[in-house]
Amino acid sequence: MLKGKSINIKKICCIGAGYVGGPTMAVMAHKCSNLEFTVLDINEDKINKWNNNDLDQLPIFEPGLKEIIKSVRGKNLFFSTEINKVISESDMIFISVNTPTKIKGFGAGYAIDLKWVETSARRVAKYASNHTIVVEKSTLPVKTAEVIKEILKCESDKIITSKKSFSVLSNPEFLSEGTAINDLIDPDRVLIGGEDELSINCLKNIYKIWVDESKILTTNLWSSELSKLTANAFLAQRISSINSISAICEATGAQIKQVSEAIGYDSRIGDKFLAAGPGFGGSCFKKDILNLVYLANFYGLNEVADYWEQVIKLNNWQIKRISKFVVEKLFGTVSLKKIVILGFAFKANTNDTRESPAISIVKDLLENGAQVVIHDPKVNYLQIKKDLNTDNEHKIYTPDFGSWQFSRDIYKSLKNADAAIIITEWPEYRNLNWEKISQLMRNPAWLFDTRAITDPEEIQKTNLNYWSIGNG
Ligand code: NAD
Ligand code: UDX
Repeated sequence: MLKGKSINIKKICCIGAGYVGGPTMAVMAHKCSNLEFTVLDINEDKINKWNNNDLDQLPIFEPGLKEIIKSVRGKNLFFSTEINKVISESDMIFISVNTPTKIKGFGAGYAIDLKWVETSARRVAKYASNHTIVVEKSTLPVKTAEVIKEILKCESDKIITSKKSFSVLSNPEFLSEGTAINDLIDPDRVLIGGEDELSINCLKNIYKIWVDESKILTTNLWSSELSKLTANAFLAQRISSINSISAICEATGAQIKQVSEAIGYDSRIGDKFLAAGPGFGGSCFKKDILNLVYLANFYGLNEVADYWEQVIKLNNWQIKRISKFVVEKLFGTVSLKKIVILGFAFKANTNDTRESPAISIVKDLLENGAQVVIHDPKVNYLQIKKDLNTDNEHKIYTPDFGSWQFSRDIYKSLKNADAAIIITEWPEYRNLNWEKISQLMRNPAWLFDTRAITDPEEIQKTNLNYWSIGNG
């Protein structure tokens, strides 16, 4: 409600109870005990999981999340499917729904599919009462705030006597999965884009409760939207850059870790995001760069579009070169060979598999007839089945098309295996007893380490053939 020159915020809701909405609201509730937060979702099953008494059943795994949820759920944090009712009671509404790349229609393969954002905005427009601050939390194409404002305006114009009014802010989220709670508690910065000083200050006052004011940046709406895409593009670009150099290391005898360290000492470059790997995954980097490419092309900036698209092309090449390399090293055929995948999540400390390089690598191996066994400490069997989009986890092996199985036991899965491929840098894989494992595996057998987390000296003590990315 508008009170003279200040807006009194009591109830906040977030549309979208995913990897961002859930943890973000949990941390806000934890830090702001005088405010009430409700996380909404159309997915009833997901909301039930967020409400489950057994905290191991939460829909996402994130270190520290269980403890925070335990401390605030039912006190000032709620999860609900009663979307219309909660919207009507809220003073501030975050939109944190999914924004994937369009898979069909105009702009398919590049543009963001805004249908979930639009549906949310229409619902807010319809059910909000009084003055409501609408905050874009999702990562969105530049100028989306214009669309949201238009939708909200149409609804408030409909009823002349309505007390409804809206302000739209952009407040992109920079958390990384696996460290989300820490990133939310101690962010590098908080970015708020907007035009209306009063609403900007409202949101700023909430963050100020636990974030130092010097870290809260305010910009116009379009800079805020563009900064989020740019940050992800720059981060992904570093990974493609170091991955391209990993291939040069393998060709020349240089070692990628030594190169990363040497360049990372340069304070202008810095030492973060220089770990070579199987290619970046996750729900953000690819879709946000594709969106940037789309925007650049839309504005006729074709050279800019080509420049950023190369980051994706290099990433696709890096993923592909790993499966090709594995087949090549196993005498050109993996048909009927047992290959163990260590790690299916796109990075460690998350159960998220979106765009995980493991999906593409396993699919390549299956197409080449391998018997794949997949181990991951947190990803579940049903998720893997969905990602691979195949039912053929037959135990009867056919040379034409491979088969896959899921295992939670690393040592058992490696028995009689022809190769192991480390794809995710889970701590569990850092100190495995490779001497013991090499006795279990076939002879000759291979260890392919796409994350360079194993100790070459340890592996040399075994009879395993060994490859580590970039000679790492
Ligand atoms: P997610 O898929 O995990 O969650 C989105 C949720 O929104 C889903 O549960 C979905 O059911 C729900 N939803 C969709 N339409 C809805 C509607 N109309 N009403 C209610 N609920 C609805 O997605 P996410 O990973 O949390 O990402 C959300 C946004 O945040 C995206 O724009 C993403 O780019 C951005 N982002 C993600 C990350 C990350 O690490 N995952 C980090 C920063 C920003
Ligand atoms: C990313 C951004 O970091 C975050 O700021 C944004 O809000 C969402 O997108 P996320 O995708 O969760 O976060 O994880 P991130 O740590 O960035 O890793 C992305 C991918 O890059 C992973 O597949 C990871 O394994 C890979 N990566 C990361 C590398 O291969 N090498 C590195 O040095 C760092």
